[in-house]
Amino acid sequence: MKTAVRYYTKTGNTKRLAEAVATALGTQAKPISEPVDEQVDILFLGNSYYAFNIDPEVRDFVASLDKNLVGKIVNFGSAAMLNSTYKKIKAEADKAGIPIDSREFHCKGEFKGIHKGRPNDDDLKAAAAFAKTFIE
Ligand SMILES: Cc1cc2nc3c(=O)[nH]c(=O)nc-3n(C[C@H](O)[C@H](O)[C@H](O)COP(=O)(O)O)c2cc1C
Repeated sequence: MKTAVRYYTKTGNTKRLAEAVATALGTQAKPISEPVDEQVDILFLGNSYYAFNIDPEVRDFVASLDKNLVGKIVNFGSAAMLNSTYKKIKAEADKAGIPIDSREFHCKGEFKGIHKGRPNDDDLKAAAAFAKTFIE
């Protein structure tokens, strides 16, 4: 099972989640500026909400994916108030012709003093455990 991890972060929260996910998978977490240029069964995509939407860079990244290289996407991330970005990512994945798994990981993310310390150690452990379910 070949996996890859890409993330987009503004304040570091998604990077920390991505590193926990990648360590659990035995791979490396890379920013979305690094293209997926080899075949992977699962692309774990870390992202978040900014002003009620995903960042345009994340949208462009999903649009840039080659459906012949990416078997499916697994969404993960955090947000301060909203629930997951799943529907937004799914809309982009649908356009790119790439399946998205119905399972995802989402937790609270610190923003301007709200949810201080999140993702915390428990969140990182939960993200790692979530990732492991795909490879065990
Ligand atoms: C500029 C900005 C806008 C945000 N807008 C929202 C929002 O609309 N809804 C929400 O639930 N969280 C919002 N947040 C909170 C982030 O989703 C949350 O802090 C997340 O953990 C950030 O991940 P990151 O550190 O990887 O960028 C916003 C954060 C920033 C920095």
